[in-house]
Amino acid sequence: MSTDSGAFDDLLHEERRFSPPAEIADDAVLRDPSVYAEAASDREAFWAGWAAELDWFEPWSKVLEWDPPRAQWFIDGKLNVSHNCLDRHVEAGRGDRRALIWEGEPGDTRTYSYSELLEEVSRLANALRDLGVERGDRVTIYLPMIPEAAVAMLACTRIGAIHSVVFGGFSPESLADRNNDARAKVLITADGGWRRGAVVPLKANADEALQTSPTVENVVVVARGGALTEEVAAPMVDGRDHWYHELIAGAAPDCQPEVMDSEDTLFVLYTSGTTGKPKGVVHTTGGYLTQVYATTKSVFDLHDEDVYWCTADVGWITGHSYIVYGPLANCAQVVMYEGAPDTPDRGRFWELCQKYGVTIFYTAPTAIRAFMRWGDQWPGEYDLSSLRILGTVGEPINPEAWMWYHEVIGGERCPIVDTWWQTETGGIMITPLPGITETKPGTATRPFPGIEAKILDDDGNETRAGYLAITEPWPSMLRTVWGDDERFMQTYWSKWKDIYFAGDGAKLDSDDYFWILGRVDDVLNVAGHRIGTAEVESALVDHHAVVESAVVGKKHDIKGESIAAFVTLKEGIEGSEELVAELRQHVGTKIGAIAKPELIVLTADLPKTRSGKIMRRLLRDIAEGRAVGDTTTLADPAVVRRLQDEHEEEG
Ligand code: WTA
Repeated sequence: MSTDSGAFDDLLHEERRFSPPAEIADDAVLRDPSVYAEAASDREAFWAGWAAELDWFEPWSKVLEWDPPRAQWFIDGKLNVSHNCLDRHVEAGRGDRRALIWEGEPGDTRTYSYSELLEEVSRLANALRDLGVERGDRVTIYLPMIPEAAVAMLACTRIGAIHSVVFGGFSPESLADRNNDARAKVLITADGGWRRGAVVPLKANADEALQTSPTVENVVVVARGGALTEEVAAPMVDGRDHWYHELIAGAAPDCQPEVMDSEDTLFVLYTSGTTGKPKGVVHTTGGYLTQVYATTKSVFDLHDEDVYWCTADVGWITGHSYIVYGPLANCAQVVMYEGAPDTPDRGRFWELCQKYGVTIFYTAPTAIRAFMRWGDQWPGEYDLSSLRILGTVGEPINPEAWMWYHEVIGGERCPIVDTWWQTETGGIMITPLPGITETKPGTATRPFPGIEAKILDDDGNETRAGYLAITEPWPSMLRTVWGDDERFMQTYWSKWKDIYFAGDGAKLDSDDYFWILGRVDDVLNVAGHRIGTAEVESALVDHHAVVESAVVGKKHDIKGESIAAFVTLKEGIEGSEELVAELRQHVGTKIGAIAKPELIVLTADLPKTRSGKIMRRLLRDIAEGRAVGDTTTLADPAVVRRLQDEHEEEG
């Protein structure tokens, strides 16, 4: 386990407790603690109750078919996700309500009502059909945080196409890998997007990716802005590239939603695992929508007057579930922001909260730690009294950051929901309920009603410190890994029988609250982003100068973890600062800037066990400057001494 468990033992003695404030508890969506027992006594009825709040073209005949590890939810039920996120609200007379309240990094703004969003989604859906996209086809979406990202996702769901959203920070090569793995037929991108005052040239990246993405036949390009288009003008390729605005203008405003089966695939989202190749996590329709709908409503205590802002990017699961599908299924008023939190200055997020009267704010611990570091004066300049509920996700939140969030952002008034979940779980799994749960800084508290989580040891016995396991099926669980069912079985279902292995370590405290300790596999969590050590290693050995590499996580004050790489060069190649810079850049080119190692140590050898396994724990100790522990299994103990010397020279 990568986490120092001594420090966590101290955490378990956390004495500070925060009860739900009366003004929230009295009127909360879930306010009666009996909901836990009721859900546990009949989980299927609990989830069916939530599903019944959605629109179904045809009812389900059975709630759950569980043939481990195969789950089917709401069998025979027919529905359409875009219909549930849009038409349902317009038909209920809520068409004029604001759906998306968007602000670009330069300060340009756009608002879409539910009717306007429905029309644009329908037009794009028609346009995609005209480009030959059929039910079940894959569409890659590579966009900045602009409203068209949500429009594109919803348009796919409208016609039953499967979207694969690729984070705009990924490199052309990563984009091409994802296009090819999914065999995407269409790519939706933009000329560019704004990030820290600079333009990210998405179309130019896409063009590069398309040289090795033979399945992509058509490209839809959003013009992010006139000036931008001129600045980053990547030429449009005749017959392949189409301007989004021209397609929309030429398409009919009505589009009959496709009638989808509850178990039809809704989307694929690639995430890092323990091998060099990211896996396409497959989510289906009815169960996914039910769980993200239920959790958005009850975890964030969503009421009509709320203005909801989740700061994630749509390229990650948090953006899928808690910017687009969960909130829109709830007819929420959703704030969406394109850019960085420190542009033009470090008060940007708080300015947005004040300007739009944000009441629910959901972000990541890494961001909270950066805000803390920047100082109280930034939030202090703005009126944050509209805030009601605060959320965090992506990594364990340290109690110090939790307390700062509570005091400085929440004015000691707002419950904090620390939500544990994963790309694979689709929706929130372990979390406080703001009207019910007494919180303690640093713990995600208890499983959501209808979710069964336990802590198990290697043999599957219950324990108070061990591996986090989900012991019963849940509606938004992943169904498989795209094109690699074997990997699905191996990664999640081979550790114990019929129990989901989450890959996280966890402990239970005396209140039976869950404390998540972090990953137990070779997956890093850098600023809330999952990066596989093997991915970075294969990017490094891809460089002509490198013969071998080992990548580990190193504690980082803001990012939680940063990437440290130990690299052995080929015989006869001289190490130099330039080469180290080149290696970092190479990883950036292969994967994306988020995967660039912060530390690269050039070394003649790597510490290995007698059986040839690289000793990562030892490397972590060295990267973090700790005394080296037990090395009795080391094949050549002198390696460690040399490594430490080399690292000290670097540092
Ligand atoms: C970590 C993000 C502690 C965990 C939704 C998990 C957390 C991985 C929390 C999934 C939390 C997420 N407390 N750790 N509240 N939330 N994690 O797939 O290690 O990007 O396995 O999904 O993030 O990351 P993913």
